[in-house]
Amino acid sequence: MNSPTSSTDTTPAHPAWLPSSAFAAVGRRRVAVRGDGALVGTIAAEVAGATAAHGGSFTRLDPGSGVGDADLVLTLTEDDDAPGPDDGGSACDAEDESFRLLRDDGAVVVQSASDRGLLYGFFHVVRLGEAAFTGPDAVETHAPATPLRMLDHWDNVAVHDVMGQVERGYSGGSIFYADGEVRADLSRVEEYARLLASTGINRVAINNVNVHAREARLLTDGLPDVARIAAAFRPWGIRVHLAVSFAAPMTLGGLPTADPLDAGVARWWRDAADRVWARIPDFGGFVVKADSEGQPGPFAYGRDHADGANLLAAAVEPHDGLIHWRAFVYDHRQDWRDRSTDRARAAHDNFAPLDGRFADNVIVQVKHGPMDFQVREPISPVLAALPRTRVALELQVTQEYTGQQKHAVYLGRAWSEILRFDFLAGAATPPVPEPGTTTSSDIPPGPTTVAGLVANSGGLVAVSNAGDDEFWTGHPFAQANLYAYGRLCWDPAADPVGLLGEWIAMTFPGAAPGVAGAIHEILDDSWETYELYTAPLGVGFMVRPGHHYGPDVDGYEYTPWGTYHFADRDGIGVDRTVATGTGFAGLYPSPWREIYESAETCPDELLLFFHHVPYTHVLHSGKTVIQHIYDTHFEGVERVERFVATWSEARSSLPADAARLAARVTDRLTEQLRSATDWRDQLNTYFLRKSGVPDTHGRTIH
Ligand code: GCU
Repeated sequence: MNSPTSSTDTTPAHPAWLPSSAFAAVGRRRVAVRGDGALVGTIAAEVAGATAAHGGSFTRLDPGSGVGDADLVLTLTEDDDAPGPDDGGSACDAEDESFRLLRDDGAVVVQSASDRGLLYGFFHVVRLGEAAFTGPDAVETHAPATPLRMLDHWDNVAVHDVMGQVERGYSGGSIFYADGEVRADLSRVEEYARLLASTGINRVAINNVNVHAREARLLTDGLPDVARIAAAFRPWGIRVHLAVSFAAPMTLGGLPTADPLDAGVARWWRDAADRVWARIPDFGGFVVKADSEGQPGPFAYGRDHADGANLLAAAVEPHDGLIHWRAFVYDHRQDWRDRSTDRARAAHDNFAPLDGRFADNVIVQVKHGPMDFQVREPISPVLAALPRTRVALELQVTQEYTGQQKHAVYLGRAWSEILRFDFLAGAATPPVPEPGTTTSSDIPPGPTTVAGLVANSGGLVAVSNAGDDEFWTGHPFAQANLYAYGRLCWDPAADPVGLLGEWIAMTFPGAAPGVAGAIHEILDDSWETYELYTAPLGVGFMVRPGHHYGPDVDGYEYTPWGTYHFADRDGIGVDRTVATGTGFAGLYPSPWREIYESAETCPDELLLFFHHVPYTHVLHSGKTVIQHIYDTHFEGVERVERFVATWSEARSSLPADAARLAARVTDRLTEQLRSATDWRDQLNTYFLRKSGVPDTHGRTIH
């Protein structure tokens, strides 16, 4: 939640990972740009700016002309050696986004068949810096792992009574909206588009998935404003999408129904889509949250989610549009006394039976875990349960449950782990499906990692963490999450700590070596640190209801939201086994279903997600559950104390123009330490009182 900001706020934005000095290596050289195309103009402007700032020279060449003796040539391919499908171009995108880099004796040529590929090639050279020109001779082809690399904004046009301007936004107001309207000045959007393009993002949904009355109208009378936003993104190769309300035919169109099988409803959506694409020919499509947390959907008409999604898919199909249909469908009015209902099962129960029924331009958008963006969850089995459906992985860059950009938490490592998760755990061939199984054990041959499953399917989507804050992301270090998300979309196999290093090098070029070391010291293991001092062993939640910040062990325990830990005097955790629990473990293919089914083989970090165990249960680590809770909470706070000390030493090495950033980081770390201490004391005290088992080290627990 945040307060509305005024459109007159003129604080200049921090350059994030694209300060002028990050362009020094390119800007010092003789650079030629050759080719036609809208984005070639963007590249030319970038090069002109960089060379003017750093003393190099810039030549814009006509197609077909020679390249002279430039140090760096950025050119659309004009001959047969254009990178083709064999070079790793993606199978399901009409546009080839790959580029080729050739280095010969220090002279670099970047070529691409498309202006978007060339833009990505340009930023690749910027990232490499001097190394682009000093490395050994090379011919390399680079292509994104997936053509769909998207960010969703949960921004409201009108400030929402409870959720504010940006739902789960921790970075000030919206860069798109202020004072109940689309901003007149979209220069921050242009800067944002540039930052995103430099990481490879190519689609952005500009409004909240909870579509309220004002926001619904973006689809109709708001279109001229949406077109202005699309124009701000276009020079950076980014297409705009809108979240729409399933009830729009009624609320906007005055129809008596939104039944997906009603001909009048279908016509209304077709007309609406036609109007959108008439205004914005490169519009991307619609995002839909239906039958979820109070949003309208097809269930009201006795229809299912394939009926709902296909209705919209048919409307956008003539325009090559996409429907991102969210799988986050569960009963949020659950009776906490009812242990047979398991929220973790809900998306699978609702969507797996529909596999094969979704239109080709529907992408089912699946949160990475079965619950809701917790610091640790198992991978959603839905990702592997829809082999005949396009599926996207949904991540949350905004740190709703991971410290709300007050805590320094680098999520790149968490996402990397998710993307690398192999549903077959490295087994060479898929196991033979058990007779009669309807679960994901019958994944067809093909990729079985999360990254592989989504690559040629629905790609990646994440909730953005950016706002109109001076540093874009509240905590300046949270920029690293936005950066790493884009880079992992491009290359899910990239080393996440390496990506953090890239972000540090670009954002603090020329800083004393100690600065990079200190930021690594704070961020490299910060995800694990956050996990240490918050909800243990995969149990999740334990946050303050509503705003979700800070500890409250029983905050959600007796509520309708389906997020329980079942702690009593004897033990804790949710029995999701097939044998005695909700059966959720059985939704995984082998060997995971067996691994998760047994408390003996379940990984420690997920034990309480799958099992209810006594406090005296001994983990693989050799510790009891209760001692693990005490130890990790003490250790988590000690680590944050070290973060504070590390930063207070490092900040003195920062240049004077980084003083505001340094002060912001200091403030945030102070709050992180206060909050981590609160987590430690509330969790440890709660479990000491509940279990009666003392800490073996006799430390202070209140
Ligand atoms: C979470 C979050 C909501 C959001 C929802 C969603 O539950 O707290 O604010 O609307 O996720 O993903 O739709």
